Formats: sequence, structure tokens, C-alpha cells
Amino acid sequence: MLNNKTALITGGSSGIGLATAKLLRDNGARVAIAGRDVAALSRARAILGNDVLTLEADVRSREGLQHMAAQVKKEFGGLDIFFANAGVAYTTPLATTTEEQFDGLMDINVKGAFFSIQAVEPVMREGGSIILNTAWLNQVGASGRAALSASKAAVRSFARTLSAELLPRRIRVNAVSPGLISTPILRGVGQSEHPGQTEEQFRAYIQTAAGHIPIGRLGSAEEIAGAVLFLASDASSYMLGSELVIDGGFGQL
Ligand SMILES: NC(=O)c1ccc[n+]([C@@H]2O[C@H](COP(=O)([O-])OP(=O)(O)OC[C@H]3O[C@@H](n4cnc5c(N)ncnc54)[C@H](OP(=O)(O)O)[C@@H]3O)[C@@H](O)[C@H]2O)c1
Repeated sequence: MLNNKTALITGGSSGIGLATAKLLRDNGARVAIAGRDVAALSRARAILGNDVLTLEADVRSREGLQHMAAQVKKEFGGLDIFFANAGVAYTTPLATTTEEQFDGLMDINVKGAFFSIQAVEPVMREGGSIILNTAWLNQVGASGRAALSASKAAVRSFARTLSAELLPRRIRVNAVSPGLISTPILRGVGQSEHPGQTEEQFRAYIQTAAGHIPIGRLGSAEEIAGAVLFLASDASSYMLGSELVIDGGFGQL
């Protein structure tokens, strides 16, 4: 499906990014993954195989992002698919949120997505596909999630605006909107809501959350990867600026 295509995934060392790297590679793409944690990148490479390019990059650093894009250009010649996936999540109740916590979400989720696209776009080939990662939170009013939800609403907006801006280059921009997906990010969310949460308490917290999802369970990273593959491929050639919701009915029913 993706033979002769090249793909770059930020946050490709874990969770949704890692599952997507595997699926795109299994479908014929040459894949590069980027992240901050060098050990996590090495572990991902051991899973994905040595033909996967691993790049150390923090999406908060514009210089680092320029370097990442230059390495992709050097190794791959150009880029067809970019999954701007890197992100963080934690709870920010109105009364207690610090400016540092607020900025932390915006710097990675919003500015990180924007400036990673800015860095990568010049090395993308005409007809390419950019996929953003939003969240179910951009559609609902979940208490204690104002900053996180606003960050993902901004990313939802980028899918529309940047799709319009990149139209002359025939680069499509769309988004996936995951519901609650079983990845390491959820531990951080649990800890931010209940500091010191034990493993047992975390499991109970997840079980309670699953009870609120119409389909009755959390989603898997692979279920999001399937949607990214669709948006990356020509099967979605008529889709621009849209968002695929993959949430077990959480925000819909
Ligand atoms: N899991 C869910 O329930 C859920 C729901 C909705 C949306 N999402 C979105 O899905 C995306 C992926 O999350 P995940 O669930 O797969 O969580 P994850 O397993 O924790 O993966 C997050 C990835 O983002 C990378 N990352 C974080 N900050 C970064 C930075 N400053 N620079 C570069 N990379 C950075 C991490 O790499 P390092 O460790 O190297 O920093 C890691 O590879 C996020 O944007 C998240 O908001 C997840």
C-alpha cells in the first residue's frame, strides 16, 4: 500500500507512534521515528528493525526540528508521510494549575505540532500526507482538562488551516482523534489526578474509565495506527482538513 513512500513519526518510540511505525513499515514504507528519550528510541528500533531510522528530537526545539528534517532529507531524499504525533497529557484543574503546567502542554502539543510541520514541510514531496493527533477531548467539556482539551482543539484547527495553506503543494492535512487508548501516557494522567497512585489503584482507575466508554473497553494503539495508515494512503485521497474519530463511541453516543 505504501511501497516507495517514506514516513516520519514524532513520538514514534512509544504507544500510538510505535504501533503506527510498525504498520506503515509492514505496508511498505521506509520509516523514521523521532523522540527525546534515546533509550526508548533504541528499544523501538529493536522492535521495528534496523532499517528504521531513529532521530533524537525534542519538538520544543526549533533547531532540533530543523536538524530532524535535514536528516530525513539526507537519508530518504524526501518525505511523503508525516505523523505529528508527539504529545503529553495531564490534568489541570482551574484552581491549582501553574503557568508552567499550562505552558508545558501548549509547548509540546500545540507549538510542537506547528513547528514540526513548519520544519518538515519543505522536505515533503507534492501529494504528501500530514496526519495530526488530536483527542476525544476537543469535542467535550471534561472537567479538569481545560488546558489539555484546548491544546488538542488547537491541533484540530491546524488540520483545517494548514490543509488550506498547503493545498497549492497538494499536501493533505488530516487528523486522528483517539479516545482512551491503552498506552503509557495514561499513567501520567492518572498520577496527575491522584498523585502517588499505586499500580492497583491505576488499574481500578482504568477499569472505571472503561465503564464509561460505550464499547466497554479502552482502545489499542493498533486501532489508531489503522486510521493513520488510511489517512497516509491514497485510499483517503479526497479527504482534506478532516478528523477521524476512533473512540469506541466515547464522544459520539
Ligand atoms: N493514549 C490516549 O488515550 C490518547 C488519547 C488521545 C490522544 N492521544 C495522543 O496520542 C499521541 C501519542 O500518545 P500515546 O498515547 O502514544 O502516549 P505515549 O506512549 O506516552 O507516547 C508519547 C510519545 O510522544 C513523545 N514525546 C513527548 N514529548 C515529546 C517532545 N517534547 N519531543 C519529542 N517527542 C515527545 C514521547 O517520546 P519521549 O518519551 O522520547 O519524549 C513518546 O514517544 C499524543 O499526542 C497524545 O496526546 C493519546
